[in-house]
Amino acid sequence: MKATATAPANIAFIKYWGKADPTLRIPLNSSISMNLSGAQTMTTVEFLDALDTDEVRILDGVFSEKETDRVVHGLDRIRERVGRDTYARVVTKNTFPKGAGSAASASGFAALALAGFAAAGTTLSEKELTTFARLGSGSACRSIPDGYVMWEKGTSSETSSAYSLYPHDYWDLRDVLVIVDSRMKKVSTSEGMETIQTSPLLVKRLAAIPERLARCKRALEEKNLTLLGEVSEEDCLDMHAVMQSQNPPLLYWNDATREIMEAVRRWRLEGLRVYFTIDAGPNVHLICEGNDEKAVAQKLRDIPAVESVIINKPAGGARLTDQHLF
Ligand code: PMV
Repeated sequence: MKATATAPANIAFIKYWGKADPTLRIPLNSSISMNLSGAQTMTTVEFLDALDTDEVRILDGVFSEKETDRVVHGLDRIRERVGRDTYARVVTKNTFPKGAGSAASASGFAALALAGFAAAGTTLSEKELTTFARLGSGSACRSIPDGYVMWEKGTSSETSSAYSLYPHDYWDLRDVLVIVDSRMKKVSTSEGMETIQTSPLLVKRLAAIPERLARCKRALEEKNLTLLGEVSEEDCLDMHAVMQSQNPPLLYWNDATREIMEAVRRWRLEGLRVYFTIDAGPNVHLICEGNDEKAVAQKLRDIPAVESVIINKPAGGARLTDQHLF
């Protein structure tokens, strides 16, 4: 059987950085995110008796050997779970606009998990699907459920899972993704997390997380942008403090990143309600409400370092479609 799934990337307000179990990708802390409408992966999987190896292909791009291996390992986990040994053909494509500078691993492994199990004829619960997506890329588990998502760190592979806190149409937020460098990041998140224990700031961040998660949940419950923005900036800066104090230090920002962070603080003083958050790269995500989207985009036009802007609305989770890629 052939199955195709689409899945969104996501942006975390309270971020995941560091693993308690590297093999099972069980995180050191729980995290909360929002799915992104403008950055999606579509993947078709078909298990075929005629194949004598897995065939993995990305349209509009090239998979490195390492990336292909990660997909094949994902297929192995599906085969093991459903108890069959047939090889598969996998074709995938990203709807990320050119220059998003993202490896798309969250959306990619979420789409692979959903399409893979559907192609194998097995229906998993949403919870179980999130745990399979997590094994491919930690943050991928947050791309399975709808809208605003909580990933509970858990204590085992079965309990480290994600669920929807609120559907995508609950609150009309925007993530205005500001691209200042469209190249791939130099140090992958997996590599970066390997040396996390060298940071003297890690223990302090982990101790602060439970209160931040509670504050973030309250901000979502009250649809309180000030509270959400403040806790998101706080945790983003804290995660980057951990990254920067690791040995070797991980320096993901560039001059344009810093310029935009400063501009956001200035715009707030002028009355524009906008906040920033940054993942493992130089590009900046601006969080605002839908009615301020145009004002934020307008302000960005005055900054020459901005290469492009992608406007994301809150999106649904991974879903099956009958528009196959082959
Ligand atoms: O799931 P990974 O390996 O792509 O790690 C994601 C880590 C951050 O993007 C930096 C933070 C997060 O929670 O999304």
